[in-house]
Amino acid sequence: MKKFLFLIFNIIFLISCSKSLPPTPNFSRDLPVPPLLNGTLIDGEINYEFEIKKGKSEIIEGVKTETYGYNGNILGPTIKVRKGQNYRFKIHNNLGEKTSVHWHGLRIPGEMDGGPNQMFIDGNYWEPHYKIEQPAATLWYHPHTWHKTGEHAYMGLAGMYIIEDEISDNLPIPKEYGVDDFPIIVQDKRFDRSGNLIYSNEHTDAMYGMRGNTLIVNGILAPILDISKKYIRFRILNGSNASNYLYSFSDNRDFYQIATDGGFLEKSNKLKKIFLSPGERVEIIVEFKEQDKNKNLYLRADDNNIMKFNVMNLDKNIDGIPNTLVNFQEYDIPSNVNTREFILQGMGHMVTINGKQMNMNRVDEYVNLNEIEIWEIRNIGTMHGGMMGRMMNPSNDTDFSNGGKSLNGHPFHVHAVQFRVLERNGREPKAFEDGWKDTIFVDLEEVVKVAVKFEDKGLFMYHCHILEHEDNGMMGTFLVE
Ligand code: C2O
Ligand code: CU
Ligand code: CU
Repeated sequence: MKKFLFLIFNIIFLISCSKSLPPTPNFSRDLPVPPLLNGTLIDGEINYEFEIKKGKSEIIEGVKTETYGYNGNILGPTIKVRKGQNYRFKIHNNLGEKTSVHWHGLRIPGEMDGGPNQMFIDGNYWEPHYKIEQPAATLWYHPHTWHKTGEHAYMGLAGMYIIEDEISDNLPIPKEYGVDDFPIIVQDKRFDRSGNLIYSNEHTDAMYGMRGNTLIVNGILAPILDISKKYIRFRILNGSNASNYLYSFSDNRDFYQIATDGGFLEKSNKLKKIFLSPGERVEIIVEFKEQDKNKNLYLRADDNNIMKFNVMNLDKNIDGIPNTLVNFQEYDIPSNVNTREFILQGMGHMVTINGKQMNMNRVDEYVNLNEIEIWEIRNIGTMHGGMMGRMMNPSNDTDFSNGGKSLNGHPFHVHAVQFRVLERNGREPKAFEDGWKDTIFVDLEEVVKVAVKFEDKGLFMYHCHILEHEDNGMMGTFLVE
Protein backbone atom coordinates (compact mmCIF):
# COMPACT_ATOMS: atom_id res chain seq x y z
CA MET A 1 0.00 0.00 0.00
CA LYS A 2 2.75 2.43 0.93
CA LYS A 3 4.62 1.61 -2.24
CA PHE A 4 1.47 2.21 -4.21
CA LEU A 5 0.89 5.58 -2.54
CA PHE A 6 4.46 6.49 -3.23
CA LEU A 7 4.07 5.70 -6.89
CA ILE A 8 0.97 7.89 -7.02
CA PHE A 9 2.92 10.77 -5.46
CA ASN A 10 5.57 10.38 -8.10
CA ILE A 11 3.04 10.51 -10.86
CA ILE A 12 1.34 13.56 -9.33
CA PHE A 13 4.72 15.20 -9.07
CA LEU A 14 5.57 14.57 -12.69
CA ILE A 15 2.17 15.84 -13.81
CA SER A 16 2.26 18.93 -11.60
CA CYS A 17 5.58 19.87 -13.16
CA SER A 18 4.07 19.95 -16.60
CA LYS A 19 0.48 21.11 -16.03
CA SER A 20 0.93 24.84 -16.54
CA LEU A 21 2.98 25.22 -19.68
CA PRO A 22 6.11 27.28 -19.14
CA PRO A 23 6.34 30.51 -21.17
CA THR A 24 8.41 30.33 -24.34
CA PRO A 25 11.84 31.86 -23.98
CA ASN A 26 12.84 34.28 -26.74
CA PHE A 27 16.27 35.49 -25.52
CA SER A 28 15.64 39.13 -26.40
CA ARG A 29 16.42 40.94 -23.14
CA ASP A 30 19.90 41.67 -21.81
CA LEU A 31 21.12 39.76 -18.79
CA PRO A 32 20.48 41.97 -15.75
CA VAL A 33 23.71 42.39 -13.80
CA PRO A 34 22.94 43.20 -10.15
CA PRO A 35 24.49 46.58 -9.22
CA LEU A 36 27.35 46.65 -6.74
CA LEU A 37 26.24 48.01 -3.37
CA ASN A 38 27.91 51.34 -2.53
CA GLY A 39 29.41 51.74 0.91
CA THR A 40 30.79 54.62 2.98
CA LEU A 41 33.89 54.41 5.12
CA ILE A 42 33.14 55.64 8.66
CA ASP A 43 35.59 55.12 11.54
CA GLY A 44 37.40 52.24 9.93
CA GLU A 45 34.25 50.40 8.96
CA ILE A 46 32.62 50.30 5.55
CA ASN A 47 28.93 51.02 6.07
CA TYR A 48 26.35 49.44 3.83
CA GLU A 49 22.62 50.09 3.92
CA PHE A 50 19.81 48.35 2.09
CA GLU A 51 16.13 47.53 2.49
CA ILE A 52 13.98 44.45 2.13
CA LYS A 53 10.77 45.14 0.25
CA LYS A 54 8.05 43.97 -2.07
CA GLY A 55 7.94 44.97 -5.70
CA LYS A 56 6.87 44.00 -9.16
CA SER A 57 9.20 42.64 -11.80
CA GLU A 58 9.03 41.44 -15.36
CA ILE A 59 10.47 37.97 -14.96
CA ILE A 60 8.61 37.13 -18.14
CA GLU A 61 8.71 39.91 -20.73
CA GLY A 62 5.52 41.99 -20.63
CA VAL A 63 4.13 40.25 -17.52
CA LYS A 64 4.20 41.98 -14.12
CA THR A 65 4.79 39.59 -11.23
CA GLU A 66 4.82 40.34 -7.53
CA THR A 67 8.30 39.65 -6.16
CA TYR A 68 10.48 40.53 -3.16
CA GLY A 69 13.86 42.18 -3.38
CA TYR A 70 16.75 43.78 -1.54
CA ASN A 71 16.59 47.43 -2.71
CA GLY A 72 15.25 46.48 -6.13
CA ASN A 73 12.18 44.48 -7.06
CA ILE A 74 13.84 41.08 -7.23
CA LEU A 75 17.15 39.64 -5.95
CA GLY A 76 19.58 42.19 -4.54
CA PRO A 77 22.73 44.20 -5.14
CA THR A 78 26.03 42.36 -5.23
CA ILE A 79 27.97 43.00 -2.04
CA LYS A 80 31.72 43.10 -2.57
CA VAL A 81 33.98 42.92 0.46
CA ARG A 82 37.71 42.54 1.13
CA LYS A 83 39.53 40.21 3.47
CA GLY A 84 40.79 42.05 6.56
CA GLN A 85 38.28 44.91 6.27
CA ASN A 86 35.52 45.72 8.79
CA TYR A 87 31.91 46.13 7.69
CA ARG A 88 28.70 47.41 9.23
CA PHE A 89 25.25 46.97 7.71
CA LYS A 90 21.96 48.69 8.33
CA ILE A 91 19.24 46.53 6.87
CA HIS A 92 15.69 47.87 6.90
CA ASN A 93 12.78 45.48 6.93
CA ASN A 94 9.92 46.93 4.85
CA LEU A 95 8.59 43.54 3.80
CA GLY A 96 5.46 43.65 5.94
CA GLU A 97 6.54 40.63 7.98
CA LYS A 98 9.54 39.41 9.93
CA THR A 99 12.54 38.00 8.14
CA SER A 100 16.31 37.68 8.54
CA VAL A 101 19.38 38.08 6.34
CA HIS A 102 21.89 35.24 6.41
CA TRP A 103 25.39 35.40 4.91
CA HIS A 104 25.75 31.98 3.36
CA GLY A 105 29.34 30.77 3.56
CA LEU A 106 30.66 33.62 5.64
CA ARG A 107 32.82 33.05 8.72
CA ILE A 108 31.39 35.33 11.41
CA PRO A 109 30.25 35.15 15.06
CA GLY A 110 26.85 33.59 15.76
CA GLU A 111 25.02 36.87 16.48
CA MET A 112 25.97 38.22 13.04
CA ASP A 113 25.02 35.07 11.13
CA GLY A 114 21.43 36.10 10.34
CA GLY A 115 19.91 32.73 11.10
CA PRO A 116 16.43 32.20 12.59
CA ASN A 117 17.67 33.64 15.90
CA GLN A 118 18.28 37.02 14.28
CA MET A 119 14.89 37.60 12.68
CA PHE A 120 13.69 41.21 12.83
CA ILE A 121 10.17 42.55 12.36
CA ASP A 122 8.64 44.80 9.73
CA GLY A 123 9.55 48.45 10.28
CA ASN A 124 12.72 47.58 12.19
CA TYR A 125 16.31 47.36 11.08
CA TRP A 126 19.14 44.94 11.85
CA GLU A 127 22.71 46.16 12.23
CA PRO A 128 25.27 43.37 11.97
CA HIS A 129 28.96 44.21 11.85
CA TYR A 130 31.96 42.00 11.30
CA LYS A 131 35.43 41.62 9.89
CA ILE A 132 36.13 39.49 6.83
CA GLU A 133 38.48 36.72 7.92
CA GLN A 134 38.45 34.36 4.95
CA PRO A 135 39.90 34.16 1.44
CA ALA A 136 38.35 35.34 -1.83
CA ALA A 137 35.16 33.48 -2.66
CA THR A 138 31.67 33.75 -4.13
CA LEU A 139 29.12 33.59 -1.32
CA TRP A 140 25.52 34.74 -1.20
CA TYR A 141 22.94 36.18 1.15
CA HIS A 142 19.33 35.20 1.62
CA PRO A 143 16.54 35.07 4.25
CA HIS A 144 16.53 32.46 7.01
CA THR A 145 13.05 33.07 8.40
CA TRP A 146 11.94 30.14 10.50
CA HIS A 147 9.28 28.19 8.49
CA LYS A 148 9.36 30.79 5.70
CA THR A 149 12.85 30.70 4.23
CA GLY A 150 11.52 28.81 1.22
CA GLU A 151 8.78 31.29 0.45
CA HIS A 152 10.92 34.39 1.05
CA ALA A 153 13.77 33.16 -1.13
CA TYR A 154 11.40 31.93 -3.81
CA MET A 155 9.69 35.35 -3.99
CA GLY A 156 13.08 36.83 -4.90
CA LEU A 157 15.19 37.46 -1.82
CA ALA A 158 18.76 36.47 -2.69
CA GLY A 159 21.95 38.28 -3.61
CA MET A 160 25.59 37.64 -4.43
CA TYR A 161 28.35 38.29 -1.92
CA ILE A 162 31.88 38.43 -3.26
CA ILE A 163 35.04 38.40 -1.18
CA GLU A 164 38.29 39.64 -2.73
CA ASP A 165 41.81 39.44 -1.29
CA GLU A 166 45.40 39.90 -2.41
CA ILE A 167 45.45 36.51 -4.04
CA SER A 168 42.37 37.19 -6.17
CA ASP A 169 43.81 40.65 -7.04
CA ASN A 170 46.96 39.07 -8.39
CA LEU A 171 45.63 36.01 -10.21
CA PRO A 172 45.63 36.48 -14.00
CA ILE A 173 41.92 35.79 -14.38
CA PRO A 174 38.95 37.89 -15.55
CA LYS A 175 37.90 40.16 -12.67
CA GLU A 176 36.07 43.17 -14.05
CA TYR A 177 32.57 42.95 -12.63
CA GLY A 178 29.90 43.10 -15.33
CA VAL A 179 32.51 43.13 -18.10
CA ASP A 180 34.27 39.78 -17.99
CA ASP A 181 33.18 38.62 -14.53
CA PHE A 182 29.46 37.91 -14.16
CA PRO A 183 27.26 36.65 -11.35
CA ILE A 184 24.84 34.06 -12.68
CA ILE A 185 21.97 33.29 -10.30
CA VAL A 186 19.89 30.41 -11.58
CA GLN A 187 16.47 29.69 -10.10
CA ASP A 188 13.36 27.81 -11.12
CA LYS A 189 9.86 29.20 -10.76
CA ARG A 190 6.30 28.23 -11.48
CA PHE A 191 3.65 30.72 -12.67
CA ASP A 192 -0.12 30.68 -12.69
CA ARG A 193 -2.12 31.84 -15.70
CA SER A 194 -2.07 35.49 -14.63
CA GLY A 195 1.68 35.49 -14.18
CA ASN A 196 1.83 35.25 -10.38
CA LEU A 197 4.43 33.08 -8.77
CA ILE A 198 3.02 29.85 -7.38
CA TYR A 199 4.57 28.80 -4.09
CA SER A 200 3.67 25.74 -2.07
CA ASN A 201 5.11 23.67 0.75
CA GLU A 202 2.42 21.00 0.61
CA HIS A 203 2.12 17.54 -0.91
CA THR A 204 4.79 16.89 -3.55
CA ASP A 205 6.26 20.39 -3.05
CA ALA A 206 6.88 19.51 0.58
CA MET A 207 8.21 16.08 -0.28
CA TYR A 208 10.73 17.05 -2.91
CA GLY A 209 10.85 20.79 -2.32
CA MET A 210 9.37 23.56 -4.46
CA ARG A 211 10.53 22.85 -8.00
CA GLY A 212 9.59 25.02 -10.95
CA ASN A 213 9.27 24.46 -14.67
CA THR A 214 10.68 27.86 -15.72
CA LEU A 215 14.37 28.57 -15.31
CA ILE A 216 15.40 32.16 -14.83
CA VAL A 217 18.81 33.83 -14.72
CA ASN A 218 19.45 36.92 -12.58
CA GLY A 219 15.71 37.34 -12.21
CA ILE A 220 14.51 37.09 -15.81
CA LEU A 221 13.54 34.40 -18.26
CA ALA A 222 15.81 33.80 -21.25
CA PRO A 223 18.38 36.62 -21.13
CA ILE A 224 21.04 37.29 -23.72
CA LEU A 225 24.56 38.37 -22.84
CA ASP A 226 26.91 40.30 -25.13
CA ILE A 227 30.40 38.84 -25.04
CA SER A 228 33.21 41.23 -25.92
CA LYS A 229 36.13 39.59 -24.08
CA LYS A 230 37.81 36.36 -25.00
CA TYR A 231 37.73 34.86 -21.53
CA ILE A 232 34.69 35.20 -19.33
CA ARG A 233 34.37 34.26 -15.69
CA PHE A 234 30.97 33.17 -14.45
CA ARG A 235 30.14 32.88 -10.78
CA ILE A 236 27.22 30.49 -10.90
CA LEU A 237 24.86 30.11 -7.95
CA ASN A 238 22.14 27.51 -7.89
CA GLY A 239 19.64 29.70 -6.06
CA SER A 240 16.74 27.32 -6.64
CA ASN A 241 14.73 26.15 -3.66
CA ALA A 242 15.08 22.45 -4.39
CA SER A 243 16.27 21.49 -7.89
CA ASN A 244 19.70 20.26 -8.86
CA TYR A 245 21.11 21.27 -12.21
CA LEU A 246 23.90 20.09 -14.44
CA TYR A 247 25.37 23.14 -16.20
CA SER A 248 27.00 23.01 -19.62
CA PHE A 249 27.25 24.90 -22.91
CA SER A 250 25.00 24.05 -25.82
CA ASP A 251 27.96 23.11 -28.06
CA ASN A 252 29.39 20.95 -25.27
CA ARG A 253 32.58 23.03 -25.12
CA ASP A 254 35.16 22.67 -22.39
CA PHE A 255 35.32 25.18 -19.59
CA TYR A 256 37.52 25.51 -16.55
CA GLN A 257 36.30 25.40 -12.99
CA ILE A 258 38.42 27.69 -10.82
CA ALA A 259 36.50 27.76 -7.53
CA THR A 260 34.12 25.87 -5.29
CA ASP A 261 31.78 27.41 -2.67
CA GLY A 262 34.52 28.76 -0.44
CA GLY A 263 37.18 29.92 -2.86
CA PHE A 264 39.72 28.98 -5.51
CA LEU A 265 40.77 25.44 -6.32
CA GLU A 266 44.47 24.61 -6.26
CA LYS A 267 44.36 23.93 -10.00
CA SER A 268 41.83 24.85 -12.64
CA ASN A 269 39.67 21.87 -13.54
CA LYS A 270 38.69 21.19 -17.16
CA LEU A 271 35.07 20.09 -17.50
CA LYS A 272 32.14 19.91 -19.88
CA LYS A 273 29.47 19.77 -17.20
CA ILE A 274 29.21 20.82 -13.60
CA PHE A 275 26.61 19.82 -11.04
CA LEU A 276 25.16 22.27 -8.51
CA SER A 277 22.58 21.50 -5.84
CA PRO A 278 20.67 24.34 -4.13
CA GLY A 279 22.99 26.74 -2.32
CA GLU A 280 26.18 25.61 -4.08
CA ARG A 281 28.36 27.95 -6.15
CA VAL A 282 31.07 27.47 -8.68
CA GLU A 283 33.33 29.82 -10.60
CA ILE A 284 34.25 28.91 -14.15
CA ILE A 285 36.18 30.52 -17.00
CA VAL A 286 35.03 29.98 -20.57
CA GLU A 287 36.95 30.85 -23.70
CA PHE A 288 35.03 32.42 -26.59
CA LYS A 289 36.32 32.39 -30.16
CA GLU A 290 35.75 34.47 -33.30
CA GLN A 291 33.82 31.62 -34.93
CA ASP A 292 31.28 31.73 -32.10
CA LYS A 293 29.91 34.93 -33.66
CA ASN A 294 27.65 33.04 -36.03
CA LYS A 295 26.61 30.37 -33.59
CA ASN A 296 23.52 29.98 -31.49
CA LEU A 297 25.35 29.43 -28.27
CA TYR A 298 23.66 28.94 -24.90
CA LEU A 299 24.36 28.20 -21.29
CA ARG A 300 22.36 25.13 -20.36
CA ALA A 301 20.94 23.74 -17.15
CA ASP A 302 20.21 20.06 -17.77
CA ASP A 303 18.54 20.09 -21.19
CA ASN A 304 17.30 23.68 -21.00
CA ASN A 305 18.91 26.61 -22.76
CA ILE A 306 18.80 29.27 -20.06
CA MET A 307 20.95 32.12 -21.42
CA LYS A 308 22.10 33.03 -24.91
CA PHE A 309 25.49 34.47 -25.83
CA ASN A 310 25.86 37.17 -28.43
CA VAL A 311 29.54 36.95 -29.33
CA MET A 312 30.94 40.23 -30.67
CA ASN A 313 34.48 41.36 -31.51
CA LEU A 314 36.62 39.79 -28.83
CA ASP A 315 39.29 41.59 -26.83
CA LYS A 316 41.99 39.40 -25.44
CA ASN A 317 41.67 40.16 -21.72
CA ILE A 318 44.01 37.53 -20.28
CA ASP A 319 46.74 35.32 -21.78
CA GLY A 320 44.97 32.08 -21.06
CA ILE A 321 43.42 30.15 -18.24
CA PRO A 322 45.99 29.62 -15.50
CA ASN A 323 46.65 26.07 -14.43
CA THR A 324 47.72 26.65 -10.84
CA LEU A 325 45.64 28.98 -8.70
CA VAL A 326 46.29 28.80 -4.96
CA ASN A 327 47.96 26.64 -2.34
CA PHE A 328 45.73 25.08 0.25
CA GLN A 329 46.68 24.85 3.84
CA GLU A 330 45.60 21.28 4.35
CA TYR A 331 44.10 20.32 7.69
CA ASP A 332 46.31 18.35 10.01
CA ILE A 333 43.72 15.92 11.26
CA PRO A 334 44.60 14.77 14.79
CA SER A 335 44.57 11.03 15.43
CA ASN A 336 42.04 11.44 18.24
CA VAL A 337 39.77 13.53 16.02
CA ASN A 338 36.15 13.81 17.09
CA THR A 339 33.74 12.36 14.53
CA ARG A 340 30.05 13.25 14.47
CA GLU A 341 27.43 11.51 12.43
CA PHE A 342 24.49 13.24 10.75
CA ILE A 343 21.77 10.94 9.49
CA LEU A 344 19.47 12.52 6.93
CA GLN A 345 16.15 10.75 6.73
CA GLY A 346 12.58 11.03 5.58
CA MET A 347 10.74 13.31 3.24
CA GLY A 348 8.12 16.02 3.16
CA HIS A 349 6.97 17.15 6.57
CA MET A 350 8.76 14.20 8.19
CA VAL A 351 12.35 15.09 7.32
CA THR A 352 14.84 14.71 10.16
CA ILE A 353 18.53 14.92 11.01
CA ASN A 354 19.60 12.32 13.55
CA GLY A 355 15.93 11.53 14.10
CA LYS A 356 15.14 15.10 15.24
CA GLN A 357 13.45 18.14 13.81
CA MET A 358 14.59 21.69 14.42
CA ASN A 359 13.98 23.19 17.84
CA MET A 360 15.24 26.74 18.20
CA ASN A 361 15.57 26.33 21.96
CA ARG A 362 17.69 23.21 21.80
CA VAL A 363 21.41 22.91 21.14
CA ASP A 364 22.05 19.75 19.17
CA GLU A 365 25.85 19.75 19.05
CA TYR A 366 28.44 21.38 21.30
CA VAL A 367 31.66 22.13 19.43
CA ASN A 368 35.01 23.39 20.70
CA LEU A 369 36.39 26.58 19.20
CA ASN A 370 39.33 26.06 16.82
CA GLU A 371 39.02 22.28 16.87
CA ILE A 372 39.05 20.17 13.73
CA GLU A 373 36.32 17.56 13.52
CA ILE A 374 35.10 15.03 11.02
CA TRP A 375 31.43 15.23 10.11
CA GLU A 376 30.01 12.17 8.46
CA ILE A 377 26.78 12.86 6.61
CA ARG A 378 24.66 9.90 5.62
CA ASN A 379 21.47 9.96 3.57
CA ILE A 380 19.46 6.87 4.42
CA GLY A 381 16.40 8.06 2.50
CA THR A 382 13.07 6.52 3.23
CA MET A 383 11.84 2.98 2.95
CA HIS A 384 10.86 3.83 -0.62
CA GLY A 385 14.03 5.62 -1.50
CA GLY A 386 15.63 3.15 -3.88
CA MET A 387 12.63 3.16 -6.11
CA MET A 388 12.70 6.92 -6.56
CA GLY A 389 16.36 6.90 -7.46
CA ARG A 390 15.62 4.59 -10.34
CA MET A 391 12.52 6.45 -11.44
CA MET A 392 14.30 9.70 -12.07
CA ASN A 393 16.48 8.32 -14.82
CA PRO A 394 19.95 8.87 -13.38
CA SER A 395 22.61 10.25 -15.65
CA ASN A 396 26.22 9.23 -15.14
CA ASP A 397 27.53 12.72 -15.88
CA THR A 398 27.83 13.42 -12.20
CA ASP A 399 29.72 11.61 -9.51
CA PHE A 400 26.67 10.89 -7.39
CA SER A 401 25.27 7.44 -6.94
CA ASN A 402 21.93 8.33 -8.50
CA GLY A 403 23.31 10.87 -10.93
CA GLY A 404 22.10 13.69 -8.71
CA LYS A 405 18.67 13.18 -10.24
CA SER A 406 17.26 11.32 -7.28
CA LEU A 407 14.60 13.49 -5.71
CA ASN A 408 15.73 12.13 -2.37
CA GLY A 409 19.19 13.68 -2.30
CA HIS A 410 19.86 16.39 0.28
CA PRO A 411 22.29 19.33 -0.04
CA PHE A 412 23.76 19.52 3.49
CA HIS A 413 24.91 22.99 4.54
CA VAL A 414 26.84 24.12 7.63
CA HIS A 415 26.90 27.78 8.69
CA ALA A 416 30.02 29.85 9.32
CA VAL A 417 32.54 27.31 8.07
CA GLN A 418 34.20 26.11 4.92
CA PHE A 419 34.96 22.39 5.04
CA ARG A 420 36.93 19.93 2.90
CA VAL A 421 35.52 16.72 1.51
CA LEU A 422 37.59 13.76 2.69
CA GLU A 423 35.54 10.96 1.17
CA ARG A 424 32.41 10.36 -0.84
CA ASN A 425 31.24 6.77 -0.41
CA GLY A 426 34.67 5.70 0.78
CA ARG A 427 36.45 7.23 -2.21
CA GLU A 428 38.49 10.40 -2.47
CA PRO A 429 36.54 13.37 -3.82
CA LYS A 430 36.72 14.18 -7.52
CA ALA A 431 38.43 17.43 -8.51
CA PHE A 432 35.18 19.41 -8.81
CA GLU A 433 34.52 19.11 -5.08
CA ASP A 434 38.08 18.92 -3.85
CA GLY A 435 38.07 22.48 -2.54
CA TRP A 436 36.46 24.61 0.17
CA LYS A 437 32.78 23.80 0.51
CA ASP A 438 29.92 24.91 2.73
CA THR A 439 27.18 22.89 1.04
CA ILE A 440 27.53 19.31 -0.10
CA PHE A 441 25.06 17.18 -2.00
CA VAL A 442 24.47 13.81 -0.40
CA ASP A 443 22.52 11.63 -2.74
CA LEU A 444 20.31 8.78 -1.67
CA GLU A 445 22.24 6.10 0.22
CA GLU A 446 25.45 8.08 0.00
CA VAL A 447 27.81 8.96 2.81
CA VAL A 448 30.13 11.97 2.70
CA LYS A 449 32.90 12.65 5.20
CA VAL A 450 34.17 16.18 5.62
CA ALA A 451 36.87 17.79 7.75
CA VAL A 452 35.78 21.01 9.36
CA LYS A 453 37.29 23.53 11.75
CA PHE A 454 35.16 25.90 13.82
CA GLU A 455 36.81 29.30 14.14
CA ASP A 456 33.90 31.49 15.22
CA LYS A 457 31.94 31.51 18.48
CA GLY A 458 28.22 31.31 18.80
CA LEU A 459 25.11 29.43 17.86
CA PHE A 460 24.79 28.27 14.26
CA MET A 461 22.69 26.01 12.06
CA TYR A 462 23.31 23.03 9.85
CA HIS A 463 20.51 21.97 7.52
CA CYS A 464 19.31 20.63 4.25
CA HIS A 465 19.37 23.43 1.63
CA ILE A 466 16.19 22.20 -0.01
CA LEU A 467 14.41 25.15 1.56
CA GLU A 468 11.13 23.31 2.11
CA HIS A 469 13.01 20.58 3.97
CA GLU A 470 14.73 23.25 6.06
CA ASP A 471 11.37 24.92 6.78
CA ASN A 472 9.88 21.54 7.67
CA GLY A 473 12.54 21.02 10.33
CA MET A 474 15.48 19.34 8.58
CA MET A 475 17.81 21.62 10.52
CA GLY A 476 19.83 21.45 13.72
CA THR A 477 21.86 23.84 15.86
CA PHE A 478 25.44 23.78 17.07
CA LEU A 479 27.13 25.94 19.66
CA VAL A 480 30.80 26.83 19.29
CA GLU A 481 32.54 27.82 22.53
CU1 C2O B 1 22.07 29.25 2.65
CU2 C2O B 1 21.31 28.26 6.45
O1 C2O B 1 21.61 28.79 4.51
CU1 CU C 1 24.34 29.39 5.42
CU1 CU D 1 16.51 17.72 2.05
